[in-house]
Amino acid sequence: MKNVIGVASGKGGVGKSTVTVNLACSLSRSGATVGVLDADVYGPSVPTLLNVWDTPRVIEDRIQPLQAYGLRVMSMGFLIGSDEPIVWRGPMISQAVTQMVQEVAWGELDYLLIDLPPGTGDIQLTIAQVLNLTGVVIVTTPQHVALGIASKAQAMFKQLHVPILGIVENMSYFLCPSCGERTDIFSHGGAQNLCERAKVPLLGEIPLDTLVRESGDSGRPIAADESNSAQRQFFDTVARNMARQASIRAARVLPLVQVEQR
Ligand SMILES: Nc1ncnc2c1ncn2[C@@H]1O[C@H](COP(=O)(O)OP(=O)(O)OP(=O)(O)O)[C@@H](O)[C@H]1O
Ligand SMILES: [Mg+2]
Repeated sequence: MKNVIGVASGKGGVGKSTVTVNLACSLSRSGATVGVLDADVYGPSVPTLLNVWDTPRVIEDRIQPLQAYGLRVMSMGFLIGSDEPIVWRGPMISQAVTQMVQEVAWGELDYLLIDLPPGTGDIQLTIAQVLNLTGVVIVTTPQHVALGIASKAQAMFKQLHVPILGIVENMSYFLCPSCGERTDIFSHGGAQNLCERAKVPLLGEIPLDTLVRESGDSGRPIAADESNSAQRQFFDTVARNMARQASIRAARVLPLVQVEQR
């Protein structure tokens, strides 16, 4: 795996899963080999967003990821019934996440995107410890309450020495489809301020858009769409910025490795 990137947030419901699958589709359309790991064990939503529900096969003790839109996908949602709640303690959750990373036949990947649950809990800790993360992307909405908690998530990854590749402001504004007027429903510019304070890049702003929601609900991500829609372009831009930040990280690590080898 060349780049392992977590998609995190402080608050729930800000659009992490939507952003994760759409970024994965944008990267895949650009020619990269991409995996999506749904690490939201309590509330997996990747199966719905990609409309993939089969039970993964096991070949030679390795779980085979499912395929959707050219992505390799693994989710706890494939292993349990869609209505079954997971009532597990922290260590069991950590073990399940570790297995989804280590016992799945991911093969060679340019990017593994990990859809994390909200907050700063066991799963985030496990992922940071088990995987050599290239970095995390923090998703937030612009309003004050979301930004406050996004800032905590950012601080947690910093404490764990996981690089922050940048912040995405989702549901950034609303463009009226009939008159084109822009409304900042949840305020605006908060993510930019957070980026300036934390000294991390703003990877992009994605508007609140009915098509984004509908395409997620129907399991056909807008970024996988053949038509070059404005909505797809928003995700393509964030994906490009994220890939650039990831490669800057790789370039920074490289000289150290070279020095060690000499
Ligand atoms: N830019 C957007 N425009 C319109 N709807 C959106 C947008 N982003 C996300 N949504 C919708 O908001 C809801 C929550 O999104 P999503 O499930 O991706 O959030 P999440 O942060 O992963 O939530 P959780 O914390 O529960 O995992 C979904 O119905 C999704 O379709
Ligand atoms: Mg989610």
